[in-house]
Amino acid sequence: MIEPIKWKDNKIVFIDQTQLPAKLKYVRCWDIDVLCEAIKKLRIRGAPLIGVAVGLGYALAGINSKEKTFRGLKKDLDRASLKLRATRPTAVNLFWVLDRMEDKFKTLSRFKINAIKKAISREALDILEEDKKMCAAIGKNGAKLIKKGDVILTHCNAGILATAGQGTALSIIYEAKKQGKRFKVYADETRPLMQGSRLTMWELMQNHIDATLICDDMAASTIKNKGVTKIIVGADRIARNGDAANKIGTYGLAVLAKHHGIPFYIAAPSSTIDKDIRSGRDIPIEERDRDELIYTGSKQTAPVNSKVYNPAFDVTPHSLISSIITEKGIYEIKRFRGI
Ligand code: MRU
Repeated sequence: MIEPIKWKDNKIVFIDQTQLPAKLKYVRCWDIDVLCEAIKKLRIRGAPLIGVAVGLGYALAGINSKEKTFRGLKKDLDRASLKLRATRPTAVNLFWVLDRMEDKFKTLSRFKINAIKKAISREALDILEEDKKMCAAIGKNGAKLIKKGDVILTHCNAGILATAGQGTALSIIYEAKKQGKRFKVYADETRPLMQGSRLTMWELMQNHIDATLICDDMAASTIKNKGVTKIIVGADRIARNGDAANKIGTYGLAVLAKHHGIPFYIAAPSSTIDKDIRSGRDIPIEERDRDELIYTGSKQTAPVNSKVYNPAFDVTPHSLISSIITEKGIYEIKRFRGI
């Protein structure tokens, strides 16, 4: 299986996802500012993968520090953590991982500097390994919902490229295929940055899944005319009441699912649940650069001085979600209390 991020010789190696599907390009990164730029520009993206990346980034800042005392090292790590926290606001995994790395660091004050650096690298690698296990468990749990002949619609990319493992929503698809179930997948292209067409189609085809690309405004008629039986997507942050933020366009799909009487599932690791947030109203939604709507790739597709509204995520109210699938099980929304 392809690995979108790796830790090699105390450096981070990642796939530059902005180059896909044309080029599979790996970047070696030993600089925290390069990592921050990669996260902001979506070279590294997807909530769980962003979490793994910032954990490794924190470890990298430790390795790069020239400080010889615990206090000096703490200053360097705090500076790195602030930069990493400022990259993207919506995926809670980013903040959860940095909190965990900082908590780990605090327990290490009586150790020698080299031992501390090793221990924080170990913690970041543990997070990476745990993410792999969570993805596999989400797949196993969610595959129970897949029936022979299902037609599944997905949005954005919640697959191998968005995690350290086999994905969240797409992990269910890979597991169902492994179990010999036959089904079809429709992938939304996911405007404006095309994570569906560039990334989901690429990885589903690599893994021999029967997948068909549609553009976002074909979703309603595809559900109606092609007999879509369920919609499965990932999430960037889930509130205690089950409201879930995911890639812009997800909310519209949930409304369509309700209208057509088909289930709408969110698949995410429990690290995507923000226990500090009561409802979706409190989820910070990233607004991205206007140029993402003015240009499609390098081609200008709107007047340059158009007024632009470009939120990267929307919040699906829990009332439109059938169940949330995590590594711990399938939670019917009625029973979901931020588990
Ligand atoms: O802007 P992106 O590409 O980081 O957005 C990604 C998504 O919205 C995914 O659906 C979500 O992070 C879940 S990934 C397992």
